[in-house]
Amino acid sequence: MAFFRTVSFAEPLPAIAGDGIALRMPQMTDYAEWADLREASREYLTPWEPTWPADDLTRGAFRRRLKRYIEDQRADLAYAFLVFRSSDNAMVGGLTLANMRRGVAQAGSLGYWMGARFARQGYMTAALRALIPFAIETLRLHRLEAACIPANAASIRLLEKTGFRREGYAREYLCINGTWQDHLLYARLKDDAL
Ligand SMILES: CC(C)(COP(=O)(O)OP(=O)(O)OC[C@H]1O[C@@H](n2cnc3c(N)ncnc32)[C@H](O)[C@@H]1OP(=O)(O)O)[C@@H](O)C(=O)NCCC(=O)NCCS
Repeated sequence: MAFFRTVSFAEPLPAIAGDGIALRMPQMTDYAEWADLREASREYLTPWEPTWPADDLTRGAFRRRLKRYIEDQRADLAYAFLVFRSSDNAMVGGLTLANMRRGVAQAGSLGYWMGARFARQGYMTAALRALIPFAIETLRLHRLEAACIPANAASIRLLEKTGFRREGYAREYLCINGTWQDHLLYARLKDDAL
């Protein structure tokens, strides 16, 4: 029955093209560029993310990360993408659709980050606009969720301009930068207009 569908991709997904950007699954050859971008963006990103493990930027940790991404994708649990600028193929950030819930929920949760030097140039707006049809049409999700700290003006604006609506407030929802922090809850339904 289509409503209870689980989607399974044994093979790597094709890239998803958007307006000036493309999304594709991370691969081992991305390691050096990914580690450079994350290191250069450490100060910019760490207030908004779970604490980075001490070895997070090592090649070994990246290899383990990729292994988990492949397993999660095969099991239809999560889909991880890196975002590339189409003009020069520069890696600009990352976007993950995780916590996939099938059955009567057909929902998933978004997480995203932009490299500091690429921020505020519209890249994550374009990336989300490319991911939404993939999530709804290919993965057949009914509901996309995202949560952000009330002080995160960039994330709030990003979600509101891509058709997400604020639905609630969850106390100490996620442990971000070492502290359990309250979050605003947002969602975009399959038939919500942009
Ligand atoms: C949230 C984030 C991914 C947005 O990526 P981005 O590529 O910079 O976003 P865009 O350029 O597409 O901008 C989206 C909107 O947010 C606004 N915006 C971006 N940075 C902003 C900031 N620092 N303050 C206020 N608004 C901001 C943009 O102006 C744009 O709105 P507009 O079109 O009305 O001008 C990026 O800011 C980031 O990585 N932040 C740190 C990590 C983080 O917050 N992760 C998410 C945790 S929930």
